[in-house]
Amino acid sequence: MKGCTSPALVFGLVLPQLGLAQKILDGVVQWNIQKRHASTIPNRLPRRAGSTYDAILRNERLQGGYYTDCEMGTPGQKVTLQLDTGSSDIWVPDSATSVCEDNGCQFGSFDPGSSSTFKLVGKDQFSINYVDKSGANGDYFTDVFKIGGVAVKNLTMGLGVDTDIPQGVAGIGYPNNEATANGYGKYPNLAVSMADEGLIKSMAYSLWLNDLDASQGSILFGGIDTKKYKGDLTRIKIYPAVNGEYFAFIVALTSLHAVSSSGNDTLTSKSFPIPVVLDSGTTLSYLPQDIVQQVWYEVGADYDDRFGMAVLPCSKQKTDGYFSFGFAGPNGPRINVRMDELVLDLTTGSPPKFTSGRYKGQEMCEFGIQTLGSSDGPFLLGDTFLRSAYVVYDLVNNEIALAETQFNSTGSNVVAFASMGAPIPSATQAPNQAAVTMKPEVTTPAYSASDGFGDDGDENASSGMPSAFGLAQMSVMGVAMLFTMIGSGVFVVL
Ligand SMILES: *[C@@H]1O[C@H](CO)[C@@H](O)[C@H](O)[C@H]1NC(C)=O
Ligand SMILES: *[C@@H]1O[C@H](CO)[C@@H](O)[C@H](O)[C@H]1NC(C)=O
Ligand SMILES: *[C@@H]1O[C@H](CO)[C@@H](O)[C@H](O)[C@H]1NC(C)=O
Ligand SMILES: *[C@@H]1O[C@H](CO)[C@@H](O)[C@H](O)[C@H]1NC(C)=O
Repeated sequence: MKGCTSPALVFGLVLPQLGLAQKILDGVVQWNIQKRHASTIPNRLPRRAGSTYDAILRNERLQGGYYTDCEMGTPGQKVTLQLDTGSSDIWVPDSATSVCEDNGCQFGSFDPGSSSTFKLVGKDQFSINYVDKSGANGDYFTDVFKIGGVAVKNLTMGLGVDTDIPQGVAGIGYPNNEATANGYGKYPNLAVSMADEGLIKSMAYSLWLNDLDASQGSILFGGIDTKKYKGDLTRIKIYPAVNGEYFAFIVALTSLHAVSSSGNDTLTSKSFPIPVVLDSGTTLSYLPQDIVQQVWYEVGADYDDRFGMAVLPCSKQKTDGYFSFGFAGPNGPRINVRMDELVLDLTTGSPPKFTSGRYKGQEMCEFGIQTLGSSDGPFLLGDTFLRSAYVVYDLVNNEIALAETQFNSTGSNVVAFASMGAPIPSATQAPNQAAVTMKPEVTTPAYSASDGFGDDGDENASSGMPSAFGLAQMSVMGVAMLFTMIGSGVFVVL
């Protein structure tokens, strides 16, 4: 079929088959997901008010995302979708769109005319827009949605009839964030439909992205896998928008420490507690400028005008230091993110080199923690953070459970949610989360390790704060509506 080419060949790499889903045990469904580059994918953050973040966009194009193979319709048409916790619709480009007709959609597309079970339910009522002004408009339809042996018989999905995006997305966030238009009401999206059809017992799933150097991770609907994390799972609150409705996976980041053999530095921000969105559809992490400045200082990253972001020598991958992210107050969970998860390739070819300055001649990589220069957000913990965490998303109790990931784990011990609305299995709640509304006691950074990560014999690595931020380069045009709603009010007791 035209526009429906095999997704197996991407950038000349033959990839193993992915998307094999299994019914692990009663009430639990697993999808395998795979890290892939895609030169054409846009940023997955829905654009809410015409805002543009060039820095995010550039990164999304380069770094790609996590994908899964599935089938839609009867007989099944193969499509490969990008997994996204930051949006809420499963949608796919129509095979007849010009983007698929002209270029072929290498991740697959959908031909409604070839499915005997296709049903149009919302003509012109699907409309999603992303920060780079790309988007998709079209219809809602219901059809069979299948991954491996597991079928959702009647799933509502979007059909990109008019789109410039050559691939589909599996948005698995809150139904409140669905991209409905022209009066189409809230509908049961993937997790809700899986629960309705008895495939899972509660609307919840666990995401294990695994190591930066590993290509495969998994998502488990309706359960957790105790062999995929270290220590204990701790449950923390998801914060609603000011109207009390839940739109996104916003949690409270309440501390950040930089730990290395030279000591333990407490980093601070006037924005603490920082409302951060856990977003698998964003590749890097974006925090407030004041704290990111300290982070860059720790690792010796410098803002580079050419790339519009902070860069550092690729050799810093070997630095023996990590950042410890604390959530939900002093007794909440902490996730350590090592330097080898934070130093990423800047280009797909051979790395560029520093042409001047303290790193002259060394290979240049991009740093996984960046800033958009705004103190209002959005603040995102994307894949550079999420790989180091095992994250359970509970859409019924509005809680997230976190633990440190067990990289490359091959063992498995799956535990299902007991029933609709049952708490996350094997997880204890972080105590005293009400205290999160208070400002932190430490308001200036406490550097006990004054040389930062001062590692690998490069004693000049932290010879001062990065000076040139060049924030004008970042073209921050406005703040996304989502963050206008949640922004400052998120920790106010309602
Ligand atoms: C399929 O799902 C839609 C949307 O939730 C619903 O309106 C419709 O009744 C369902 N059809 C069947 C046969 O269950
Ligand atoms: C995980 O596996 C990848 C690929 O085999 C490897 O490069 C990486 O070092 C492993 N990570 C850990 C933490 O063992
Ligand atoms: C770093 O310091 C903080 C605050 O003093 C402390 O809570 C944390 O446990 C320390 N981390 C390590 C790894 O020593
Ligand atoms: C540190 O900087 C000084 C002066 O700029 C230079 O002479 C020295 O070689 C540098 N050391 C390293 C390890 O780069």
